[in-house]
Amino acid sequence: MTATRRITKAVIPAAGLGTRFLPATKAVPKEMLPVVDRPAIQYVVEESIAAGFSEILMVTGRNKSALEDHFDRSYELENVLREKGDDVKLSRMESSAASADIHYLRQGDPRGLGHAVLRAASYVGDVPFGVLLGDDLIGAGDDLLGRMAAVRARVGGSVLALMEVPAEQISRYGCAAVEPTSEPGVVRVTDLVEKPAPGEAPSNYAVLGRYVLDPGIFGVLRTTEPGRGGEIQLTDALREMCGGEASGPVHAVVFSGRRYDTGNPGDYLRAVVELAWDRADLGPAFREWLGGFVAANAHRPPAGAGSRAA
Ligand code: UTP
Repeated sequence: MTATRRITKAVIPAAGLGTRFLPATKAVPKEMLPVVDRPAIQYVVEESIAAGFSEILMVTGRNKSALEDHFDRSYELENVLREKGDDVKLSRMESSAASADIHYLRQGDPRGLGHAVLRAASYVGDVPFGVLLGDDLIGAGDDLLGRMAAVRARVGGSVLALMEVPAEQISRYGCAAVEPTSEPGVVRVTDLVEKPAPGEAPSNYAVLGRYVLDPGIFGVLRTTEPGRGGEIQLTDALREMCGGEASGPVHAVVFSGRRYDTGNPGDYLRAVVELAWDRADLGPAFREWLGGFVAANAHRPPAGAGSRAA
């Protein structure tokens, strides 16, 4: 089966509790933590729009109203800056995300990623759609979603994104068993395991926070029982679809670009450093400082408070 319809709808689940980033996320959603000078969620929304997935439903929860405020106009701030003639700062408030058609839905109980996606069923209807996790950043310019949509257009079903990770890290992720296809960089997914125990992973391929899903996923999610952690897992529903009978098949694009899970403090730090390094405006001074800092501190043991484990 092929499906040539252009994908325009995206669901951004952003209702998770963010417990790995406490206490920062006690009152601030993890998606609002700044990566250089904009919140993580803004990169995700901009990526979605750049791929043509511009009708966005954000699934949020309690304490997440800052997400809605961020994508709303701030007339008061704009007027103050306009009166001051501060066009530079005014232009920073403009982004492609400002023109997005963003809808919001509360998840209610955060009963897992699968449950958050299921809440989007009536918004999505009977068309294929994208899912972008609100705390997962992909290097700009990689057009991962575009490649995934192209695979869906050729072979139908659902398309995941996989990234090879070191064996000792695979138990942090959903993990895919795969077989090759005739297309380089595209694999068929034959099985999925959410956070496999060490030694039980079928591969080193980790599932990233980007999905192109067949709307048949909703029927499967409706009957998916709570799995790992008592949550309704998207991975469990996709696993059922791998067999090919229930709205399959499931393929995946193997991604080798940059990816950061900003809900994880260590990855968040890498995202800030690498994105600042690349910036045309801030980059030159930052690179010079960082080079000097590393050279001067390479052999210095970490100071007391700063050495607390992440
Ligand atoms: P995570 O695995 O990062 O879980 O969710 P979490 O609860 O957000 O964070 P920790 O583990 O407590 O630190 C993966 C994605 O699924 C969304 C999250 O917002 C994130 O984008 N999610 C998760 C929901 O939208 N609802 C849920 O019930 C659970």
